[in-house]
Amino acid sequence: MTLELLPTVDSIDPNTLEPKSGSNKLSRSVYIETYGCQMNVADSELVGSILNDAGFKISNRAESADVILLNTCAVREHAEERVIGRVSQLNSLRAQRPNLTIGILGCMAQHLSETLTERAPFVDIAMGPDSYRRLPDLLAQSSDDALLDVRLNRSENYIGLTPIRREGTNAWVTIIRGCDKFCTFCIVPYVRGRERSIDPIDILRQIESVVSEGYKEVTLLGQTVNSYKHKNTSFSNLLRKIAEIKGLERLRFTSPYPIDFSDDVISAMSELNCVCPSIHLPVQSGSDEQLRLMRRGYSLYDFRRLVDKLRNAIPDIAISTDIITGFCGEAEKDFQDTCKLMEEIRFDFAFMFKYSEREGTYAFKKMEDDIPEDIKSQRLQHIIKLQERISLEKNQICIGKSYPVLIEGKSKRKGKDGKDRYYGKTPHNKTTVVSENVPKNTFVDVVIDSCTSHTLYGRPSRINDPS
Ligand code: 5AD
Repeated sequence: MTLELLPTVDSIDPNTLEPKSGSNKLSRSVYIETYGCQMNVADSELVGSILNDAGFKISNRAESADVILLNTCAVREHAEERVIGRVSQLNSLRAQRPNLTIGILGCMAQHLSETLTERAPFVDIAMGPDSYRRLPDLLAQSSDDALLDVRLNRSENYIGLTPIRREGTNAWVTIIRGCDKFCTFCIVPYVRGRERSIDPIDILRQIESVVSEGYKEVTLLGQTVNSYKHKNTSFSNLLRKIAEIKGLERLRFTSPYPIDFSDDVISAMSELNCVCPSIHLPVQSGSDEQLRLMRRGYSLYDFRRLVDKLRNAIPDIAISTDIITGFCGEAEKDFQDTCKLMEEIRFDFAFMFKYSEREGTYAFKKMEDDIPEDIKSQRLQHIIKLQERISLEKNQICIGKSYPVLIEGKSKRKGKDGKDRYYGKTPHNKTTVVSENVPKNTFVDVVIDSCTSHTLYGRPSRINDPS
């Protein structure tokens, strides 16, 4: 059978990595598959490092691994269903390898801790996002029952670990874990625990190290990345310190929370050359009543003001967002207001979702999930179409202009002429495809010739690599 039926979001490393310690032919190999947000990608890189230090070999093939770990997402029901399906699919590998261990890591393990063994009876271990240091011990235990470790730990920041990063041009660096916002629809605070910011010394050490390895771009990560605060270091202080690191060409961060976006951060963004002119700013809804029910803590007036400030400080800034349709009580008027807001702000890009009730959240306990499924779907389809048009129009503005693109690699699809194409991102985070062969991890100025709503196409004018 094929294991490619369900597309994986990411597997940790393109190359097999030998264990750091006690390397011998008997060491077990582990394959890690990642679902969900970039935070999970970064967590998988941490898990890879913890297991590699403990003598595991990191493999890029599920079919030959002794241990298969799925690092999961619980934000929407759909994400959980995919993982449950994948686990039963992977279970068929046990026929050839009875000693195979299958584990579920991350948010879903935390969320479903009590019912996981019923819903996914083939899982051997389940571990929440604050327990990864204990993973080697858990894997060393043998038990007929599933082993579970889902303790949340307010002080676990994984300080001192060097993640095994996927080969790439961008290094993810987690600067704050957890979330204190408790939006009524959202499971994150329950599965990732309280906010804790990482010591800036450790963050700077990590970034210096990735830059010396050759990464030119760093993305700072956190569920509410701009809520970062460590003793006297605010998020804007941190940006300024990071910007001093020589060799760092591009700095991004995701995702900021609208109410924590200070004027200092906007000034830092406009003053620091390495900070890219693009921001992901989740609005969720264009209705004040919905925002109130979601407990987002801002009004549309506040959101518009923030967008104005950002656009005044960084005129060509690209703004993307997240939008939920069909949240509790969403009247047709609320939905229309969301469409109007999208037309007004003209986001460059949006991730759009149907509301799915998450057990444990305030909305699950106290509010009625009262929008029928077909209405949720219709509304979602409507805003997807609307956004596609806006994204296309925004991309068309790029035609004829030139942007520095950091090349990430070869595209999966060849051009119409049958030739290989290469892709990368503009500072505005727009994926750009070129037909010439440009080496990975180099900057090239690209003149844009054409576009779709998702991609820019162009020709390199000159390779422009500062290194
Ligand atoms: N239902 C649908 N979408 C959700 N999101 C978070 N929780 C839910 C939910 N219960 C979306 C929000 C968030 C993004 C990461 O996922 O838009 O910003």
